[in-house]
Amino acid sequence: MGGPPASSPEPAASSAVVHVLFGTETGNAEKVAEKTVEALTAAGVDATLGELADAMPEDLAGMTRVAIVCSTIDDGQLPYDVLPFWKALIRVDAGPLESLEFAVCGLGDSDYEDFCHAGVLLDERLEELGATRMLERVDCDVDYAAPSQGWTDSLVALFGSAPDDTATDPPTTGAEPDAVVGTSSDEPAWGRHRPYRSTLVAAQSLSGPRSSKEVRHYEFALAEAGLDYAPGDGIGVVPRNDPALVAGLMDHLGVAGDDELHVALTHAHEIVTPSRDLLGELARRTRHDELRAALTHEDTGARAAYLRDRDTLDLLRAAAVDFEVGELLGLLRPLKHRTYSIASSPLVCPGQVHLTVASVRYRAGERDTGGVCSTHLADRLATGDTADVFLEPNETFRLPADDVPMIMVGPGTGVAPFRAFLQQRREQGARGANWLFFGDRQREHDFLYGDELEAMHADGLLNRLDLAFSRDQAEKVYVQDRMREHGAALWAWLEDGASFYLCGDESRMAPDVDAALHDIVAEHGGLDDDGATAYVRTLRRDKRYLRDVY
Ligand code: 2AM
Repeated sequence: MGGPPASSPEPAASSAVVHVLFGTETGNAEKVAEKTVEALTAAGVDATLGELADAMPEDLAGMTRVAIVCSTIDDGQLPYDVLPFWKALIRVDAGPLESLEFAVCGLGDSDYEDFCHAGVLLDERLEELGATRMLERVDCDVDYAAPSQGWTDSLVALFGSAPDDTATDPPTTGAEPDAVVGTSSDEPAWGRHRPYRSTLVAAQSLSGPRSSKEVRHYEFALAEAGLDYAPGDGIGVVPRNDPALVAGLMDHLGVAGDDELHVALTHAHEIVTPSRDLLGELARRTRHDELRAALTHEDTGARAAYLRDRDTLDLLRAAAVDFEVGELLGLLRPLKHRTYSIASSPLVCPGQVHLTVASVRYRAGERDTGGVCSTHLADRLATGDTADVFLEPNETFRLPADDVPMIMVGPGTGVAPFRAFLQQRREQGARGANWLFFGDRQREHDFLYGDELEAMHADGLLNRLDLAFSRDQAEKVYVQDRMREHGAALWAWLEDGASFYLCGDESRMAPDVDAALHDIVAEHGGLDDDGATAYVRTLRRDKRYLRDVY
């Protein structure tokens, strides 16, 4: 699509307000939306910034132009806050948005099958409802800076006058700036493209030897990095592939001894989880009908179940397809960093970051295998060894003001940022009360940071510590059950101005905790369903309900 539609209802293109709305989970879409508003404003276009979470379809009907920036949660879901808007939008009858012009910029991660699905859904639905697309949708991958800037530039070109050279903010590019931390740059000195070589100074298991799973604590030195972080931030760790798997793959390809390839397969390519391109090619070329049927099964659940137990090498062996090495490398995805929430306060552990990492282990075919990064850290990184790391700021997950009470729900490794929060609060002498809900399988084996947390409870830093060990009794007990048990007190804390924090498993735990929060608000606040929903939305809007889920 080219310029503005000929039938633009406005007399002059630049006279209509462009409403830039964002839907975000971690704040990236918000940043893109903010930059877009700045760029439009600098070009003389009237632009406003808003959240999709605060909009309803009838609000859109009253707008002339809307530019939406929306991120997608890993496996294709819309951000939590956008769900009410989306549910309303799919209930609207066709046609009411005929005078609306729209543009959508999606943020996502192409590792997932439904890449930028939220953006796709919004883009298609707005068209269905009769709105006119001003720009083709842009789908941005993890490195979103350059493509999203392209989208912003296109919007500005549609409506703006010539760009203002005197504007102080230069347009962002995909390149990492040279700025040092602490300047106005929103990217740290050591970024995704320029990781810092950090030394592992300590590591230990947090789960007992007889635990059914392994969670480990790591301490990395940041001494000269100048990596300034705040509690709530994460660290990206650049992994290396398992040498045994690399060797197996090289054997299979008949290229054992090729050093260059060894380096590439160790550092550059994802070789545990097969890429979608590789799966497609295997399905197309294999002569084994059973494998083809499994790889192309219509039921995505069945396909996922088949792939869960098989890594790239298993599939290559099963398919018996001959690949040229270069061709195969071209089909593999780049090896990506993994992000972990920082479990330490920079005030208490200056020059270090602590991480809390569950080792992902499973059986693939005949072999024991596991998560690329978590097993690299657990099995192949000794103290004194180095790993490449960089800061992943998380502006949307921050401590409240010092005197604000804080309710934290963090089962399993979800406890990590709360250890950082609590350390920080102690160091700052913050007066706000603290309440932690922690849960895991068994108290004896899985009480992560148990001694520290109990000490914090004993000395009063933690005013309340409620524990849910799911496998210590016949019936499962989860953190949300403890929340419900103490619903009256939880409600009282909320009414007293407490902020509510949730960290951990996104797919099952987070929705259940969210539902418990709604129920508690309804029951103890004497609200009906709509009233409770509105109360929780207000908590979100006031940044008193913060989530870091994965
Ligand atoms: P389970 O494995 O015994 O089912 C940390 O992983 C803790 O979260 C474990 O105790 C785990 O219990 C629990 N958990 C699993 N599903 C959950 C859910 N839907 N809500 C809350 N906690 C859950």
